[in-house]
Amino acid sequence: FPAGCTAVRGPLLHFIAEPGLNAPDPSAHEYHADGLLVVAEGRVLANGAAAELLPRLPAGTEVEQYPDSLIIPGMIDTHVHMPQLAVLASYGTQLLEWLETYTFPTEARFADAAWAADQSQLFLDLLLTHGTTSALVFSTSHKVAAEALFSAAEGYNMAITSGKVMMDCHAPDGVRDETEASYQESRELIERWHGQGRQRYAVTPRFAATSTAQQLTYAGQLLAEYPDVLMQTHWAENHAEIAWIKELFPERSSYLDVYDHFGLLGARSVLAHGIHIDDGDRARLAETGTRIAFCPTSNTFLGSGLFDLASARAADVEVGLATDVGGGTSLSMLATMAEAYKVCQLRGQSLNPFQAFYMATLGNARVLHQDDSTGNLAPGKYADFLILDRSASPALRLKHEPERALQAMLFDLMILGDDRAIRRTYIAGQCRYDRDSVKGAALN
Ligand code: GUN
Ligand code: ZN
Repeated sequence: FPAGCTAVRGPLLHFIAEPGLNAPDPSAHEYHADGLLVVAEGRVLANGAAAELLPRLPAGTEVEQYPDSLIIPGMIDTHVHMPQLAVLASYGTQLLEWLETYTFPTEARFADAAWAADQSQLFLDLLLTHGTTSALVFSTSHKVAAEALFSAAEGYNMAITSGKVMMDCHAPDGVRDETEASYQESRELIERWHGQGRQRYAVTPRFAATSTAQQLTYAGQLLAEYPDVLMQTHWAENHAEIAWIKELFPERSSYLDVYDHFGLLGARSVLAHGIHIDDGDRARLAETGTRIAFCPTSNTFLGSGLFDLASARAADVEVGLATDVGGGTSLSMLATMAEAYKVCQLRGQSLNPFQAFYMATLGNARVLHQDDSTGNLAPGKYADFLILDRSASPALRLKHEPERALQAMLFDLMILGDDRAIRRTYIAGQCRYDRDSVKGAALN
């Protein structure tokens, strides 16, 4: 290994394939009880058994030691709203009333560039404290808010995919945009940010109810003009929402058919929720490669319903795991795995911990088409990784034994873990969060 490389040593886990929902395929993961991760110039050089790799380090290389921890790839969130931190824990409503009462008024503040910059920085710092190193993110309809998030993410060399929300009807003054300007500003943002460092653009119509047919046409046109950008929206989350879409688009055969009609389905499209759907929808998703972001803490908090994970996977629909803060209640992907497990329990389905950790890492990287550079610790990928503390809370300490079986260790972390379990977060080889020496006013 070259001079100037660095290394971390400890139990190391990552995935190279999908384990499956039921009996996990043991060849889907690689685990080294005494592992070593070697990093140079922001990228992974090697991962493997410490006994094999240590002798190859140049003399004097500093090796950080984490014997009682777990080294894993950074977690990825496939659906989260930067401007909704202040919406967390909003009482007593379901989707449509929640949007009117809490969410739209909160998002109106993001017309102010200084506020948008502050909140973007806070948002990224909070992702890091929760062990999330990359995300597909909703901004607001204000171009300045999208700019602010991309600028902050570039400062951390952090892979963020985001876009200006398109929303030209059925929303109040202050958060609506204008049909032509929305298209133009989306274009400008794509030209400025898509492929700039690790930043990527997602065309972002909020959902079919808040866009005119003309705006949805423009969204489809953007995807045709820029075939490698992503698309994100919301779909089939709540019964009242679905009934409203039926009224607004009576000529379309289903909610999914609205997006299909405007050319918004495809392998680069991520639809959040997809709870109240049928086999015809699943077949069309699979056929087009369209992905679903499963947002369990949001779906239970807003009383939206129980996503059917097993049916989606059985139909070969790609499914990512996501927090959906502020409809969701935590930025922690560990807390999100716990809620996903409970949703599966309520449906009589299983979600084993290998599959849950796969989904939060390599699976989500695949959903977002960024598994060439993130998702596991394969040589050449960005060194986005975490040091998890296996005894971060009294409950975790009770379960902790040095020789605990891997599956039990993962299940402990998934059910009992939260931001306290994130000891360190590295982005492209740089430690951007160290729980035990937190600095910076934003986080206190
Ligand atoms: N549908 C339209 N907008 C939103 C949003 O901000 N959050 C959620 N959960 N669903 C939506
Ligand atoms: Zn959402």
